[in-house]
Amino acid sequence: MDFKSELLRRKDEVEDVLVEYFGDKLGHQRTVVEAMEYSIKAGGKRLRPILLIEVCKLLGGNEEEALAFACAVEMIHTYSLIHDDLPAMDNDDFRRGKPTNHKVYGEGVAILAGDGLLNLAFETMLEKIIKTPGLMDRGIKAMHIISNASGIKGMIGGQVVDLESEGKKIDEDTLEFIHLTKTSAMIEASIKAGAVIGGAEEKEYRKLENYGRSVGLAFQIVDDILDVTGDEVKLGKKVGSDIDNEKSTYPSLYGLEKSKEMAYELFEKSLKSLEIFDSKADFLRELVEFLRVREY
Ligand code: IPE
Ligand code: IPE
Ligand code: MG
Ligand code: MG
Ligand code: MG
Repeated sequence: MDFKSELLRRKDEVEDVLVEYFGDKLGHQRTVVEAMEYSIKAGGKRLRPILLIEVCKLLGGNEEEALAFACAVEMIHTYSLIHDDLPAMDNDDFRRGKPTNHKVYGEGVAILAGDGLLNLAFETMLEKIIKTPGLMDRGIKAMHIISNASGIKGMIGGQVVDLESEGKKIDEDTLEFIHLTKTSAMIEASIKAGAVIGGAEEKEYRKLENYGRSVGLAFQIVDDILDVTGDEVKLGKKVGSDIDNEKSTYPSLYGLEKSKEMAYELFEKSLKSLEIFDSKADFLRELVEFLRVREY
């Protein structure tokens, strides 16, 4: 099977499980559940859950154990997108090819839908841990990694500096801090959580962590580049949002060409981190090639 079809197959696999968490519409609170489901079902690459599962499998771990954690990181990621798009943040009207959550449900419900997804992620992981004999230690460690990466040391920490830096000239270190925290942290955490669930040894864990950090930083640099050069239909979100918001981005600080070079180097570095693994890591290698040339 070629890589693109394989990626699609894995995306479907994640989605089949992910949508099951929204089967129960509950009663009076159904509006918020519908809003959560709307953004989850709108699509997306499902990169983070795919990475989590793949790393667990690479280490000979049990995919079934990894699935709940994979769904959880996608819930947290989707919440971060709903909040990122709010008028008080990036004020965007399109996401994943559809009107943003607040455009459909209003700001109040969109805030609650984000909160609901964040909470559901932790409910999902805890339920899996409680129900699965032998998963307690690894499961708690994975949750610890995910909670750190989504909080003030990670995604939320990056988002606040991103917001505060609008309309300002910031230095290279601050920009790298923003990208490492707002985006790379969750990508790295998905990989590390997969590694823990898969029973990684110390050395494997360190190499995978480095792989995640390089891929994660490069991923956000490419996101910045696509905000300038991308196609709205392919991306499913607005192009030029960063310029409108006077964001500091890699293209705004370094220019497009230099940004492309920096992403290229980081992807190279990520491949080097995989050198200790045999052909079982080929999917992770091909994923790097895919992310390098992605248009969405
Ligand atoms: C978009 O993430 C926000 C960033 C962190 C750059 P993705 O590009 O992974 O978005 P989806 O999940 O595919 O929609
Ligand atoms: C967002 O970065 C990172 C998140 C934590 C959601 P961006 O604001 O650049 O993401 P897009 O371009 O809106 O997807
Ligand atoms: Mg943003
Ligand atoms: Mg944004
Ligand atoms: Mg962006």
